[in-house]
Amino acid sequence: MSEQEWVQVSEAQIAVHWQEEELFHPPAEFIAQANMTDPSIYGRFSLENFPECYKEYADLLTWYQYWHTTLDTSDAPCWKWFVGGKINASYNCVDRHLAKHQNKASFVFVPEPEDEPHLVLTYRELWVRVNEVAALLRDFAGLQAGDRVTLHLPMVPELPIMMLACARLGVIHSVVFGGFSGRACGERIADSGSRVLVTMDGYNRKGELLDHKSKSDIAVEVAQEEGQTVDKVLVWRRYRDRHASAAPMVEGRDYFMDDLLKGYVGARVDPVPMPAEAPLFLMYTSGTTGKPKGCQHSTGGYLAYVAGTSKYVQDIHPEDVYWCMADIGWITGHSYIVYGPLALGASSVLYEGSPTCPDAGRPWRIAERLNVNIFHTAPTTIRMLRKAGPDEPAKHSYHFKHMTTVGEPIEPEVWRWYYYVVGKGKAAIVDTWWQTETGGFLCSTMPAIQAMKPGSAGPAVPGIHPVVYDEEGKEIEKGSGRAGNICIRNPWPGAFQTVWGDRGRYVETYYAKYCHDEESKDWRDWPYFTGDAAMQSQDGYYRILGRVDDVINVAGHRLGTKELESASLAVLEVAEAAVVPLADPIKGRVPDIYISLKPGYKPSQRIKAAVTQAIEVSIGKIARPQHVYIVPDMPKTRSGKIMRRVLADISNGRDIGDVTTLANPEIVREIQRMVQG
Ligand code: PRX
Repeated sequence: MSEQEWVQVSEAQIAVHWQEEELFHPPAEFIAQANMTDPSIYGRFSLENFPECYKEYADLLTWYQYWHTTLDTSDAPCWKWFVGGKINASYNCVDRHLAKHQNKASFVFVPEPEDEPHLVLTYRELWVRVNEVAALLRDFAGLQAGDRVTLHLPMVPELPIMMLACARLGVIHSVVFGGFSGRACGERIADSGSRVLVTMDGYNRKGELLDHKSKSDIAVEVAQEEGQTVDKVLVWRRYRDRHASAAPMVEGRDYFMDDLLKGYVGARVDPVPMPAEAPLFLMYTSGTTGKPKGCQHSTGGYLAYVAGTSKYVQDIHPEDVYWCMADIGWITGHSYIVYGPLALGASSVLYEGSPTCPDAGRPWRIAERLNVNIFHTAPTTIRMLRKAGPDEPAKHSYHFKHMTTVGEPIEPEVWRWYYYVVGKGKAAIVDTWWQTETGGFLCSTMPAIQAMKPGSAGPAVPGIHPVVYDEEGKEIEKGSGRAGNICIRNPWPGAFQTVWGDRGRYVETYYAKYCHDEESKDWRDWPYFTGDAAMQSQDGYYRILGRVDDVINVAGHRLGTKELESASLAVLEVAEAAVVPLADPIKGRVPDIYISLKPGYKPSQRIKAAVTQAIEVSIGKIARPQHVYIVPDMPKTRSGKIMRRVLADISNGRDIGDVTTLANPEIVREIQRMVQG
């Protein structure tokens, strides 16, 4: 049985035993104020009305020039939306709100240290700062439309300011999650071809002021090794009066942003009207091979899709106080902290630090103080807050009308804690299933139209038409109790356009598996392969079971097992490495790593520590393995393939099944004794 089949079979078995959960109905108070209460939206967004239905989302935006073709499929499967249209994302997220809302908060920045004052950035102030930074990027850094810039920044207002300044010029931003290592950042700089890196000296995380600038030195070095020269590193300072980093500034390369900005006070830059299909940003994500792929998102289609879903699924009104606790360094932050909410003129909370710093009451104190009424987070955080302070929410008088969960499947019992304790039984919950590649939500209930089902992402959102295929491409009927590969039948405006610089990989990874005809220019021949296993209940709700490929979802973050394995192989003594997911009560999954050594080396704690360190250096602390096991040999098939399935069973204490067909079955017992005692 192949690795892929194994995942599906075992996930399908889980599904068979999965109990249907009781439905929860959205509160009347929520329905009374919701942006979308009309079920006919599903008819308007049916396949018969595709693709023109998406005009409804595009019309939420302000266009310099209207498009002539809603969907151009001539370069299938690279879809082009709203062709002929001209638009600027920065204008839509900032300028157009000034007439009515210039003094309204765009962001309220909450620093992690609780004694530090909040910073309120009005739309006017955001506009001023975006203009000044855009002038600097254009005139000092020499950037213009189509150039790429890497932003390696923590959760501070400077990050959305930089993104919007890039968007103003048509410069493509590539945000690298602040927790990623310098090496990981350098690889992404090289792949995107950025010659400008933007960073910050440091930031607060879990009570510590972390040095961040030093990572940029490694990043520049790694990029150089890969042939990409970075000629400017622009460094924001977290505090004006103290340095968060001891790393020296490199003369002629590194510049403090606050120094440079003195030369741009009052500067104004007209937003550049961009073709709708011009790339807005790249977001790197892990896949089945070692190299992360840059998902290229468009300007018009993406912005229309995140504006539409923010309005109808997130139910954001201009008078709401919205708080998404994700990091802007991931797609959730791009779509549902920055672009979607700002396109609607929302007021958002931007929190710098860890949800449990200094204690598990922190999020609820922030919610109470700022009167947050829409709350958005991941199951990992919910599990963590539930463990650390199950009674904390009750001590605070905030009122959430709406709550979101995203990034991983949520266990029904965790969902119920979220509903009853965090939401106090008064909030509508949406469980939103989607991906970096998809730009915005794929499945979720419409919060005022459908009932919620704990553990289920719900039906597809309007305009998305999923299908569950078996390995042969036969449709698995809803209610059959069988799981399969969930795919999307149709393109949608939020979908990424390609893998940056690698169209072949884009087609191969996402479309080749179920394509009906590779020559076809008809979108009906190109179902999108999500890489997730799912099953659909009789009522049409989808339960997402997890990845079918070599991707581990750790605390809602996607890690490619191949990335961890290749990092381990950089340790001199390591001959082979295999990474498997270990179930974890808080993080969902964590990586366990098995290594075998080259001849002549003896197992030691030092080697184990070196492997952990190699992973931290090459990816970041989020990828740190739970265990490093040094095994005498890997369990292998007769053709020499490492049987990760067997290692995963051992890690998780599951029955390992029949291993007699392996080349070395005796090794399995030995590893089992080592791991399980
Ligand atoms: O396996 C699915 C899981 O996260 C993957 C996408 O990860 P990423 O690109 O990092 O984007 C995360 C934020 C959208 C998916 O392939 N996933 C995401 N949301 C859910 C989920 N699994 C179950 N339920 C969800 N709501």
